[in-house]
Amino acid sequence: MATLGDSLTLRSGTVLRNRICKASMNEALATADGKVTTEHVSLYEAWANSGASLMITGNMMVDGKHMNEPLVVDALLESNTGLLRKWAATGKATNTHIWPQLNHPGKQSPKMVNDAPVAPSVVPIENDLFVPPRALTEAEIEDIIDRFAEAAARLEEAGFTGVQLHGAHGYLIGQFLSPHHNRRTDKWGGSFDNRFRFVEEIYNSIRARTGDGFNIGIKINSSDFQKGGFTEEDSIEVAKRLDKLGVDLIEISGGSWENPVNRKGKAEAKKESTRKREAYFLEYAEKVKKQIETPLVVTGGFRSSEGMSQALASGAIDMAGVARPFAVDAKFGTHVIRNPKHVSPVAPIRSGIKKIDAMAIMEISWYTMQIERISRGKKVQTKADGVWPALKVMYRFWKNGKAVKRVRA
Ligand SMILES: Cc1cc2nc3c(=O)[nH]c(=O)nc-3n(C[C@H](O)[C@H](O)[C@H](O)COP(=O)(O)O)c2cc1C
Repeated sequence: MATLGDSLTLRSGTVLRNRICKASMNEALATADGKVTTEHVSLYEAWANSGASLMITGNMMVDGKHMNEPLVVDALLESNTGLLRKWAATGKATNTHIWPQLNHPGKQSPKMVNDAPVAPSVVPIENDLFVPPRALTEAEIEDIIDRFAEAAARLEEAGFTGVQLHGAHGYLIGQFLSPHHNRRTDKWGGSFDNRFRFVEEIYNSIRARTGDGFNIGIKINSSDFQKGGFTEEDSIEVAKRLDKLGVDLIEISGGSWENPVNRKGKAEAKKESTRKREAYFLEYAEKVKKQIETPLVVTGGFRSSEGMSQALASGAIDMAGVARPFAVDAKFGTHVIRNPKHVSPVAPIRSGIKKIDAMAIMEISWYTMQIERISRGKKVQTKADGVWPALKVMYRFWKNGKAVKRVRA
């Protein structure tokens, strides 16, 4: 029976010193043209003492023309090399592994930053924040695969011990996997094998470009919770294939911009079984865990030592993934390991405005503000201040979205 303080050895030989993973949170600290800043470095210096043995960074883009939000890092920007080295070094003193999360948003690149998003097929997102996408050509698909591999190779060079592919939340890897979003009739769509090909080739290309001990993790959805889309059965099949390929760590999450079940924890959180067990995707984890050997992280809903310890003890997970509690407590990992009764104070944040709440804008904005405060050495706030954080962050995004477009023009 594993406990939170036990180490975990991955296939790569990497030993993680405990079972707590700080899940990815977009730091929103990059410049409009995707440059890493010194705030990224100071944030991870603080989080290196958080008690988590593994920190997944906020998503970094493999193509600066296709961002999921303004203020995200462009992983392939030549000028980022120096600060990426410093960022990677922040974990060394505490033996904390840092894996940048690599992403291409596909059609989930909002019109605020992108007038010409791409996707496997021309299936628009039902949300007026996005311009309808055009379908990628085969040459463009190959180029994106190369970009993932090139980014991973550069990040390894910078000193990071692994990367995580963002295959969850409806971005491009998820779009290829989903029969709803992927209607292609060439070798990249149709059958399960064809829909899986994109992520498989990204994985193989990264392996070919990186060293033996380098870790490749992936975050996938347990389901897209969308009719005709990526189902739980698809997800289990994907996990089995990734396991066979040799992926080092699989993180389970759920939802997308069209259906943000993860961020709101909507359907899952309503279930009586979920309320009792804290995390949203544990039932799914139990099913998939029996069928794979790759260690499993479940993220979404964990708030207490007790909840995480129980999930580990049940054998459903190998590691607890936690995001929002780390944004309001830069030592959350240490607190849960040291105190079996510790509970994070985070609570749902709502504005009362339906459209804002449906996309969890308040929630994301509030935590984004707290992350910025940690990066500047300021005390985090303890309670949300009406709609103000959302408006402030939205204004910053809008202003920088314009700057992103100017830079890219
Ligand atoms: C401010 C913020 C930014 C996020 N950015 C990312 C991201 O870049 N990549 C990602 O995979 N998930 C991202 N997430 C989702 C979290 O990783 C996590 O899956 C979700 O918050 C549920 O976990 P929690 O209940 O522990 O917060 C973000 C969440 C928040 C609150």
